[in-house]
Amino acid sequence: MTIDYQETTKDLQTRIDIHQRYGSRDIDQWMLDLLKLERGMQILDVGCGSGKQLLAFHEYLQGEAQITGGDVNQELLDQARERNAAAGNPWEIEELDFNSRLPYDDNTYDLASCCFAIYYADDIPFTVGEMLRVLRPGGTLFTTGPMLQNKRTFYELIGEATGKPIPPMPGSSRYDSEILGTIREQFSEVDLHIFENPLDFEEAEPFVDYTRASLSEDRKLWNSLFETSEDFEKVISQIDQVAQARIEREGHIVMTKVVGGIVATK
Ligand SMILES: C[S@@+](CC[C@H](N)C(=O)[O-])C[C@H]1O[C@@H](n2cnc3c(N)ncnc32)[C@H](O)[C@@H]1O
Repeated sequence: MTIDYQETTKDLQTRIDIHQRYGSRDIDQWMLDLLKLERGMQILDVGCGSGKQLLAFHEYLQGEAQITGGDVNQELLDQARERNAAAGNPWEIEELDFNSRLPYDDNTYDLASCCFAIYYADDIPFTVGEMLRVLRPGGTLFTTGPMLQNKRTFYELIGEATGKPIPPMPGSSRYDSEILGTIREQFSEVDLHIFENPLDFEEAEPFVDYTRASLSEDRKLWNSLFETSEDFEKVISQIDQVAQARIEREGHIVMTKVVGGIVATK
């Protein structure tokens, strides 16, 4: 499967900010509790985006680690470089496409992470195999992705607003099936951990902002609901009406993020 994917920096940041503002749990803290990182580790973050996890690893280890981040998106890499500069340039930030052989030696890293990105890979066994190859024996793979029950309310309201079926999402439709299955085939010990974060909206506006940022992130995924910008705006305004009605009826909209964290040992 080939996935034409282009994250925009603005949309990614909008969603990250809304998770932080309307959710009650911190996903980075959950990740750090699971990983029990140690000083001196060599860490590779594949699909690092603007460097959210790079910063979390760096702060947790108080700078005592060798951290590399790679991504295909130049705009996001520039943001990661800005974050890196603000921290005194402790990380290596590189252009990297996880659909190609990773430009690193075998048996190098203690941790290879890939957060909210692996499901955009064209060939999951290949990308998982590359992360396995660059990990040292005993090293850890960590990936995150949406579970099937992720954001039920979000899809329900979009369905109600448009009257159309929700297209299959590359993440939630295969994260705890195909992707978890591939990791189980390639790694010795594999555990799935669940993170739940209810986002509680008392007004429609932030929910609609979140929806706008999600739908525009990859318009091709949603082209059964809209194609032109005009259609897109129409769908957003239908979602706005449905969201307002839900808030009037129930007082709030609760959308729960349900994320799977896969921790696997080489
Ligand atoms: C939802 S973002 C997550 C970014 C970051 N890990 C985070 O959690 O904030 C998905 C990331 O996957 C990256 N990505 C998509 N296809 C990729 C590829 N072929 N190789 C490397 N990164 C890719 C995107 O550019 C984007 O940064």
